[in-house]
Amino acid sequence: MSIIQVHGLQPLKGEIGIQGSKNAVLPMMAASILHKGTVVLTHVPGIQDVYCMKGILEYMGCVCTLEGDRLTIGTDALTDIRIPEKYLKAMRSSIMMLGALLGRCGEAVTCYPGGCSIGRRPIDLHLHALEKLGAQIEERDGVIKATAERLHGGEVNLSFPSVGATENALLAAVLAEGTTVIRGAAREPEITALCSMLNCMGAKVTGGGSDTIWIEGVKTLHDTVFEVPGDRICAGTYLSCIMASQGEAVIKGVCPGQMAAVLQAARQMGAEIKEYENHIAVAMRGRPEAVNLKTEPYPGFPTDLQSPVLSLLAIGKGTGSIRETIFEGRFATALELEKMGARIHLEEESALVTGTYPLKGCTVEAADLRGGAALVVAGLAAQGETTIRNCGHILRGYEDICRDLQKLGANIRRVL
Ligand code: EPZ
Repeated sequence: MSIIQVHGLQPLKGEIGIQGSKNAVLPMMAASILHKGTVVLTHVPGIQDVYCMKGILEYMGCVCTLEGDRLTIGTDALTDIRIPEKYLKAMRSSIMMLGALLGRCGEAVTCYPGGCSIGRRPIDLHLHALEKLGAQIEERDGVIKATAERLHGGEVNLSFPSVGATENALLAAVLAEGTTVIRGAAREPEITALCSMLNCMGAKVTGGGSDTIWIEGVKTLHDTVFEVPGDRICAGTYLSCIMASQGEAVIKGVCPGQMAAVLQAARQMGAEIKEYENHIAVAMRGRPEAVNLKTEPYPGFPTDLQSPVLSLLAIGKGTGSIRETIFEGRFATALELEKMGARIHLEEESALVTGTYPLKGCTVEAADLRGGAALVVAGLAAQGETTIRNCGHILRGYEDICRDLQKLGANIRRVL
């Protein structure tokens, strides 16, 4: 059981570099198997989810070498088409291997990834998209067998801009015969990055980042070296930490243009933000102003920063609210924040929060990845020591949150 301890009320100061994006690198690792050769990814974050995806690729026969932040994936010897249940249970997003396996091998066997602490997380849109491209999907006793003699181009209409379903459709379409159009596609920057990487490999994808993506199937791809973009959610988390501590710092290695909704909310909460080409400067004097926010698909306010901003509202001046429209179970952290003195009223998909400052340090439990990070945000604005248990969740997406925040002067350490 990993434990982090935070002593709060210390303004964070200095500058911090942002790791590679978890939600960009995972689909890129899946995409690598579309090519029989070598794919190199740089600026790869050293996080549990990357190690898990690396384990899946190696299970399938790939040769993966991670040296620092450089990951070399040799896919010549890929032989296995199964995504074992243990990996899916450890990391739901391994379901995005489906499209890549169908594209490479014409078949894939997996099981339902199941829900997690933030929601049911069905995969109906993924399976619908793959069937539109010629896959036959058999489901029996929780096992999913997908086969396709030859994937063909088609029209995929997503009823919701699912990030994962967009990625699976993209990966299945790259080597399919003919042209595919994905309408209602997710527009997240991680999709744009994946499309750029696929084109770097020799694919023909246009419209990445818009709600309509066109893919002209090609017969072969080629070796590639590609850099993973900075993690905008990690940057937004550290922005919340700096604001909670009433500090002043520079966040480097991230594109402000990908964080427009986040920076707008931060400014509404009273942060002074200066934007540069690939870094932002933030200064926060006093407690956050209360705001009313709603999470939405990109370019709206990201659901992955809902919990960190809930912590900011918990110390805000007045009463604010957050409406969660993406995942139905993403308020588990509210119960932990209440242990620290936060005043949060949950009503269906919204949280009404009356700020109080400072919070009081105590022992709390991380329920999920971003919820755990939100408890670090809260601990930075709490009197005394906050002990956060179950921090394995945090390690899935943040390389080393203690190392990074210590660089900004935070009194934080991992004790287990
Ligand atoms: C990706 O998850 C991210 N994960 C999530 O980040 C992120 O919160 C989410 O996109 C939304 O931005 C990765 O990229 C690895 P979705 P994904 O499919 O693809 C429903 C984090 O903390 N849905 O866009 O699973 C679903 O239930 C993680 O880094 C269906 O109904 O998200 C949810 O309500 C958490 N049927 C909504 O769509 C489907 O077939 C959004 O899901 C698929 C999804």
